[in-house]
Amino acid sequence: MATLHHLRAGVIGTGFIGPVHVEALRRLGIQVTALCDLPDRVRPAADRLGIPAAYTDYRKLLAAPDVDVVHITAPNRFHCEMALAALAARKHCVCEKPLAMNTRETARIVQTARRAGTVFAVNYNVRFYPAVLQLRRMVERGDLGDIIHVNGSYLQDWLFKPTDYNWRLLPKEGGPLRAVADIGTHWMDTVSFILGAPITRVMADLATWHKTRQRPLGEVQTFAREDQTTRYATYPVKTEDFASVLLEFRNGARGNLAVSQVAAGRKNCIRLEIYGSKQSAWWCSEEPETLCLGRRDEPNAVALRGTPAFGPDAAPFVDYPAGHVEGFPDTFKMLFRAVYRAIAEGNTTAPLFATPEDGHQEVAVCEAILKSHQTRRWTAVRA
Ligand SMILES: NC(=O)c1ccc[n+]([C@@H]2O[C@H](COP(=O)([O-])OP(=O)(O)OC[C@H]3O[C@@H](n4cnc5c(N)ncnc54)[C@H](O)[C@@H]3O)[C@@H](O)[C@H]2O)c1
Repeated sequence: MATLHHLRAGVIGTGFIGPVHVEALRRLGIQVTALCDLPDRVRPAADRLGIPAAYTDYRKLLAAPDVDVVHITAPNRFHCEMALAALAARKHCVCEKPLAMNTRETARIVQTARRAGTVFAVNYNVRFYPAVLQLRRMVERGDLGDIIHVNGSYLQDWLFKPTDYNWRLLPKEGGPLRAVADIGTHWMDTVSFILGAPITRVMADLATWHKTRQRPLGEVQTFAREDQTTRYATYPVKTEDFASVLLEFRNGARGNLAVSQVAAGRKNCIRLEIYGSKQSAWWCSEEPETLCLGRRDEPNAVALRGTPAFGPDAAPFVDYPAGHVEGFPDTFKMLFRAVYRAIAEGNTTAPLFATPEDGHQEVAVCEAILKSHQTRRWTAVRA
């Protein structure tokens, strides 16, 4: 079997998530040969992570002969130009979500990627929790019966205070939607992945709790804590702090989703409940190893990953025995293993990782959500 260890990676963006990519790649035995970031950031990051090449222009990283796969972990507004440039340079690519700022951009990436013949993944890592992979197989096999409805949320509190700041708060940097595009799309991608059915219609209500916020003077990294000495400038907020969305899936299932970045105490909580005509299943990322099965007449079951009750279907995506918790960083490792194997083995049919088409679909759902909120109507997703 072709191995993935000869492939070498370059990572563009060294803020919060770039180093998560580096760590996961190294756990797979993949060499990270190059980093790229702004001039004041890239050298310290390269020294900290022990990476030889530090570029300040991503085109130079794309031209490097010792980079086979490019990871785009820069802010959303750069994704389209960087993805198109990576495709033009004939590099394989893992692009962070959301794929780009709007469907004009994502459609261009889809078309270019189809012609390129390289592997291109969108980093919807939640797909690679063992419980999510197990649920997908259970739904596919009919273990839950017909899916009646899905309920859930993605809640965080890192933008709870008016002084919490990040580029995601600004539409020109993060896009016109914030909480929905940033974390809501993780939930929607995960549930569509489990159900094997995309979202076709939405009815949405978006709200902004902090109508104005105070921006620290200077740059702030994702999940950074405030500093007593910081000075602030007030600015109006145009993106939503929280959202409620009703959903229809192509298989007829209905859903409702709550998203918030101002939910005190919820750090990074993605929760989903799937109600079928035979039984239900519940899962939450805060207890990633536990899958709950709900029954009308028999006792409910709490199944731990790695035990027979959980089921064996996610076994190829599990490295540790039961009780040795696998969580957020492991999802990156498993996603990258799938991507790098697809590259090494030349097999790109029906991958488990999100494709450019999936990334485009999620941005199309975001656009339908925004339109629904503005028109106060059910709105079809036009992917
Ligand atoms: N899959 C996940 O769970 C997950 C989690 C967090 C973030 N993300 C995504 O990752 C991306 C980055 O988010 P983050 O939280 O790491 O942001 P961040 O602000 O912490 O880091 C972004 C980095 O990109 C650098 N950068 C900016 N412009 C650049 C350019 N032109 N060239 C090279 N580098 C540049 C910045 O200096 C910064 O170091 C976003 O698209 C976000 O949605 C995904």
